[in-house]
Amino acid sequence: MHPEPTIFYGPVISPESLTSYKALPNCLLSVGPSGTIDWLVEDVEEHALQKTLAQKGCIDVNVTVLPSGRFLLPGFIDTHTHAPQLPNIGSGQQYELLDWLSNVTFPTEAKFSDLEFARRTYESVVRRILDCGTTTCCYYGTLHLEATKALADIVHISGQRAFIGKCNMDRNCPEYYVEPSVEVSLRETRELISHIRSQSSRGSPEQVSGSLSPDLVQPVLTPRFAVSCTPELLSSLGELASSDPSLLIQTHISENKAEIAFVKELFSEAPHYAGVYESFGLLRHNTILAHAVHLEDAEVELIAERKTGISHCPTSNFNLSSGVAPVGRFLDRGIKVGLGTDVSGGFSPSILNTIQNASIASKILAMQAGPQGSSPTGFANRQLSVATLLYLATLGGAEVCGLEKVVGSFAPGKSFDALIIDARNNCGNPGLWYPDHDIAGNSKPTLDGLLERFLFCGDDRNISRVYVQGRFIGAPGHPGRSLSFTI
Ligand code: GUN
Ligand code: FE
Repeated sequence: MHPEPTIFYGPVISPESLTSYKALPNCLLSVGPSGTIDWLVEDVEEHALQKTLAQKGCIDVNVTVLPSGRFLLPGFIDTHTHAPQLPNIGSGQQYELLDWLSNVTFPTEAKFSDLEFARRTYESVVRRILDCGTTTCCYYGTLHLEATKALADIVHISGQRAFIGKCNMDRNCPEYYVEPSVEVSLRETRELISHIRSQSSRGSPEQVSGSLSPDLVQPVLTPRFAVSCTPELLSSLGELASSDPSLLIQTHISENKAEIAFVKELFSEAPHYAGVYESFGLLRHNTILAHAVHLEDAEVELIAERKTGISHCPTSNFNLSSGVAPVGRFLDRGIKVGLGTDVSGGFSPSILNTIQNASIASKILAMQAGPQGSSPTGFANRQLSVATLLYLATLGGAEVCGLEKVVGSFAPGKSFDALIIDARNNCGNPGLWYPDHDIAGNSKPTLDGLLERFLFCGDDRNISRVYVQGRFIGAPGHPGRSLSFTI
């Protein structure tokens, strides 16, 4: 598909650690035919461009030069969202979790028994999420096998990198939206796993020609939460997980106080909420726990020991009045943390919005703790910096999904999952982007300044191109850009 390397020259931003990122104004970066970054040279002055290319063996090649105001950024990673909840986004914010599930979410998800409705809806959902710059997404489907297979097919055709799971839920749900038995739940889960795995090995047209890695879309075990699963179901899912150590697991934990009280009632022998998942073998290095707002100290310790990842969903935690998750505490304990939009508990499918709310959430904790209560050296009860926020949205998310060697930053050998950010005046939100003079009187904002403005004020109009595994799969910032992937 790409007989020649694709070479970019211009500003590149790439996270390095929880406290630092690289901002490279003159970077030269080459993506090979398989969509992997072959090499990058961090600082090449314009006059040295041809010489550097020649040293790399590149003669007569096309170079995509990023004009001033544009930059390359690793694609965003959404570690927790619900594809069937886009239809009820922005409604039901008067409820807390359990009432919101009963009154808003379960009725919407039940509609996905209609396969045509599911296909139509999922096509626009995946398009929307890609337009937000999400190159890797952890999706919950509904409990329906066929609809969730359709979601996997649509994601596969779109070219997005993703984990897709069918909800397991066999109790404490309305009779019109609950699985009939442990056996059915298990059988359909296995069927979805083999569908997704065989779909990957069959490949899309590009994959057949060998230009894409075969496993962009992977299955994920999805016990919805302890409330909606009988011990028998959790036990069977634990057995399935232990027979398949590389299979990711995703679930919710400790989001809301009424939910936690319900879990304690249902599993009275467990020491705490995390102990329920632990007792069924579901707490491991490739488990993603969403929310973690009200964890007890012992739970934080257990999660750290198991090397389990946490998906921080601040927009949802505010919207459903769940609380503020102590992310800094998790980071200080060495726990992997990524960001999750948690649509439609969260009212935006964009990780940019999650970044903004993660920042506000950390400032609330810092203000409540005061200077005495903040960690002097770590992250607890301190505001998250731009570097930390960028890390959580990219490399942190990659760690949570076990993809840190593959995506999340730019380095030779990693897949080119990337966004071209366009922060120029003609993007539709002018003035924010390229004032004649910034506050300090400089005529051009620095790359750091542009990044911060994009993270806090940007939207999909500023996402000019979306790439996954080197493949150009979307151009949200351009009218008429829609790449269709109807199945
Ligand atoms: N807990 C169980 N199901 C859900 C869901 O769909 N969204 C959120 N935010 N929490 C949940
Ligand atoms: Fe959720």
